[in-house]
Amino acid sequence: MINMRGKLGGLMAAMLMSSMGLVEAIAPLTIKGNKFFDSQTGAQFYIKGVAYQLRARTDPLVDKDQCALDAALMKELGVNTIRVYQTDYSANHDDCMKIFADAGIYLFVDLANYETGINEDNPYWSQDQLSSFAATLDAFAGYENTVGFWIGNEVITKSAGERAVYFIAAAVADIKTHIKNKNYDHPIYIGYASTDNADTRPYVQNYLACNHEGFTDRDSSIDFYGVNAYEWCNPTDTFETSGYSRLTGYLSAAQYDIPAFFSEDGCNTSPPRLFEDMFSVFGPNMTDWWSGAIVYEWINESNKYGLVSYGMVKDPSTAVGGDPYERSGTPTPVTPDFSNLKTVWASVSPTSLTLSAYTPTNTQVDCPASVSAWNIDPSASIPTLGDIATSMPASTNTAASTTTSKPNSASLVKISSWPVAVVMIITTFMSMY
Ligand SMILES: *[C@@H]1O[C@H](CO)[C@@H](O)[C@H](O)[C@H]1NC(C)=O
Ligand SMILES: *[C@@H]1O[C@H](CO)[C@@H](O)[C@H](O)[C@H]1NC(C)=O
Repeated sequence: MINMRGKLGGLMAAMLMSSMGLVEAIAPLTIKGNKFFDSQTGAQFYIKGVAYQLRARTDPLVDKDQCALDAALMKELGVNTIRVYQTDYSANHDDCMKIFADAGIYLFVDLANYETGINEDNPYWSQDQLSSFAATLDAFAGYENTVGFWIGNEVITKSAGERAVYFIAAAVADIKTHIKNKNYDHPIYIGYASTDNADTRPYVQNYLACNHEGFTDRDSSIDFYGVNAYEWCNPTDTFETSGYSRLTGYLSAAQYDIPAFFSEDGCNTSPPRLFEDMFSVFGPNMTDWWSGAIVYEWINESNKYGLVSYGMVKDPSTAVGGDPYERSGTPTPVTPDFSNLKTVWASVSPTSLTLSAYTPTNTQVDCPASVSAWNIDPSASIPTLGDIATSMPASTNTAASTTTSKPNSASLVKISSWPVAVVMIITTFMSMY
């Protein structure tokens, strides 16, 4: 009896404290100016993230045992954020999201899957895409540790694909209307993860953040900007030689008024990975403009970017698609890469502001003027639902891509490469019979 009363009393106290907001595993992040802050403590937040996708087309946030194993090791590494690419909006994510919240880990999720992403070679924006984006957003927006969503990942990879930028802006506008209608109890932010393409880089960065014809209050503009950066490749690289100074220059030239960070980061052409770029990312040359980085990637697979390994499958004949990498189980740190990153992250101490003491002065960027390298009309109305590419001002650009080296991840096979692969499989299959 006495025991029972004690338990009930404790439970009621916990419920009361929870309803008063006193028991909060993790506080939502908030954006002010070009920085992230913890909404409860007011401390500035820098992203120390990893890309978390164990298998292509499979949601990594549904298996609570796996999430628990990974979250514990991520915490040891110093991770405070994960980026997840492919999820299943019909699945239940409560357990995994709580496990990551308890480990102090925030989440950025991609809205597009392989079928729904905007395609630069044939851009359009449809109700099917919007419905799918909205369902993914609704599946995660309620969790306190969800910070925001990617409206697209590396959609534009070449000048000739620039017209897709109109459709990305249209997607931002419609998904922001959806967020407003849903009235979530903490801010939900929308960003774009850009390819590090020399031809389109500053234009995409600024066009997606500017205000478009017929809109106000960032209703069609992104709230944060990401670059997938693979430029710091040599052990002797510096802020200048790596190209990080140039990427920083694009933000300072625009006096960029929203947070930016590396939505993927790393280069592995000179193993082992030293992660010395983190001294720049979290150092005085970059912290005025950047809020950290998401290191690519958690699992070690054929692209060799991984920080942990689950080993190889024991019986290759059971391997999915011939892929020999185990995608679950106990994660084992890749040596010495894992401990290199852990040591570097533990040793950086970026300058830190507080929410109340910070008064942003930058204002929203202008839409970039149309120039020969960027044939996008800054004052054109962005498409509405159902529009297709030919309804927008044409691009005359045919320049080839000059994107810097990027991983060729099994997790991130682009939709544009599927038809060819599928055709090859079918052809091979048919020739066998
Ligand atoms: C910052 O930039 C200066 C000038 O390029 C350079 O000398 C210095 O090493 C850089 N600091 C870091 C931490 O990258
Ligand atoms: C990571 O994967 C690559 C590619 O298969 C492999 O060569 C390397 O040995 C792996 N590293 C570890 C530590 O598992």
